[in-house]
Amino acid sequence: MNAEKKMKFYELSEDYWAKQPATVNGMLGGFDFVSQADIDQSQSVLDWLKSSKKLGETKLALDCGAGIGRITKNLLLNNFESVEMVDVTEGFISKAKEYLDMDSARVVKFHVCALQNFHPEVNRYDCIWIQWVLGYLTDADLVDFLKRCKLALKQNGICVIKENLSKDEREFDEEDSSYTRTKSEFVNIIHKAGWRLVKDEKQRNFPKELYEVRIFVLQ
Ligand SMILES: C[S@@+](CC[C@H](N)C(=O)[O-])C[C@H]1O[C@@H](n2cnc3c(N)ncnc32)[C@H](O)[C@@H]1O
Repeated sequence: MNAEKKMKFYELSEDYWAKQPATVNGMLGGFDFVSQADIDQSQSVLDWLKSSKKLGETKLALDCGAGIGRITKNLLLNNFESVEMVDVTEGFISKAKEYLDMDSARVVKFHVCALQNFHPEVNRYDCIWIQWVLGYLTDADLVDFLKRCKLALKQNGICVIKENLSKDEREFDEEDSSYTRTKSEFVNIIHKAGWRLVKDEKQRNFPKELYEVRIFVLQ
């Protein structure tokens, strides 16, 4: 992708998200009723990671593409002592303090930054959670970002990616300038960034008309 195309690709998604409501329904494109099933299965993955001792400490998690903090509030703060959030949309990060209410005290940093430009501190996090945001990155930026995430994890830390998958080939959505990638594209990107895929599983109990959602656990 040339520089001009890339700039347009990112501008379009930033403009799209700047116009979306800062609510759980806004985060989930009108499907707020899937939030509980999403969180429940994510919790069971974290339970497994803890009981199998694959996850070492539970001090600090990073929520990537965090939006208003739906995952921070309902999942990460129940499992980690504190959380940092990063999102490109300033309005969502400002809303987060209100949405998180008392819990916002344990959100130690709010980063307003695009993931393609975000350089997390090395050796800092026990868990990096990345959900429903990677379609907004080009392949090259995604590989580079995942490499930086690997450096940002502490020893025995884990990275979780949870994303929609397309069936046969990647799809591009012109409305929000995003890719929906196939499973094999994700696996290739994960390996290219130097990660080992520890586990992957399909999200259950989602409406049939939605894309398959898959949870990838990386170490
Ligand atoms: C579908 S919402 C998901 C929010 C949250 N992960 C959740 O599951 O509730 C997508 C989020 O990605 C953010 N986003 C889009 N492009 C981004 C980018 N390049 N870097 C960081 N965040 C981005 C949007 O602002 C929005 O908050």
